[in-house]
Amino acid sequence: MGEPTIPMNLDELVVQAQADFAAAADAAALENAKAKYLGKTGQITEQMKGLGRLAPEERKAQGAVINVAKEKIEAALNARRDKLADDQLQVRLNAEAIDVTLPGRGRGMGGIHPVMRTWQRIEEIFGSIGFDVADGPEIETDWTNFSALNSPENHPARSMQDTFYIDGKDTQGKQLLLRTHTSPMQVRYARMHKPPIKVIAPGRTYRVDSDATHSPMFHQVEGLWIAEDISFADLKGVYLNFVKAFFETEDLQVRFRPSYFPFTEPSAEIDIAFGSGPLKGRWLEVSGAGQVHPTVVRNMGLDPTQYIGFAFGSGLERLTMLRYGINDLRLFYEGDLRFLKQFN
Ligand code: DAH
Repeated sequence: MGEPTIPMNLDELVVQAQADFAAAADAAALENAKAKYLGKTGQITEQMKGLGRLAPEERKAQGAVINVAKEKIEAALNARRDKLADDQLQVRLNAEAIDVTLPGRGRGMGGIHPVMRTWQRIEEIFGSIGFDVADGPEIETDWTNFSALNSPENHPARSMQDTFYIDGKDTQGKQLLLRTHTSPMQVRYARMHKPPIKVIAPGRTYRVDSDATHSPMFHQVEGLWIAEDISFADLKGVYLNFVKAFFETEDLQVRFRPSYFPFTEPSAEIDIAFGSGPLKGRWLEVSGAGQVHPTVVRNMGLDPTQYIGFAFGSGLERLTMLRYGINDLRLFYEGDLRFLKQFN
């Protein structure tokens, strides 16, 4: 054999290039490996340069052989490039991956408090028979909470209700207070509207009182219907309709028990008795009510010889307890989800 025109077997060169490329762990190493074969002084390039020394016939044949080797090396290079790019992408995807199988942090659905549910139902029921719904202040004046409702100063009626007084005085120089009932809304609403006046005013009320059946904050709904001919019989019809709708039963009796409130005359406590269920046959107090006192009608800015009507005030907690058979009012305000979830 004379001088080898090919310093190395081309097949071996291809195998070696493939091995070098496979060993390149990243793009930079691959570019270095490439230079060894295809760079300016790479082995394939050198071989191409050597062709010039060959006779034309041989040059053609040898050139073709080198080209085949070159293409194989380029193919190996490109395959390795693609593989490295894929691997890199995969690493990134793994690093940025979101594990969709993790339970989400989520946000619970929340629910309506049983007393608020009662509030909503009351608005719906009275709304369906034409009552407006009014909202009033929880900080009240002595006049609207007491005097306008016919409770004169130092009158024993005021001690029926233990009042939270707060810092601050009204324009009469009287101490402001947290309303002890929703009844001041009778006067507030009537002074801003023309008869016929037909309204309910649900809301928060406050008294210095706390035990299994009393909370310092509680809810009432006031009802008022004043026109030229609204009688006690209308009160009875409206309230009976209300309790039947509220408790979702026709099997229920209502009685009016004589009572005293300064703002009504005559006054009554409304009791109900269910015809079935766990409370069957027991008379249960649900509301105070009465024919609005002429003095109160006058304080509404109306002539009591022309306008007459009824009012009632019912406790929302009380109605809720009867509806669901709850015996301790404090459960409403402890925020215990095990209790509250039962109503949603
Ligand atoms: N305001 C009374 C209370 O809190 C309840 C009441 C009784 C309201 C008779 C009325 C009524 O409107 O006519 O105890």
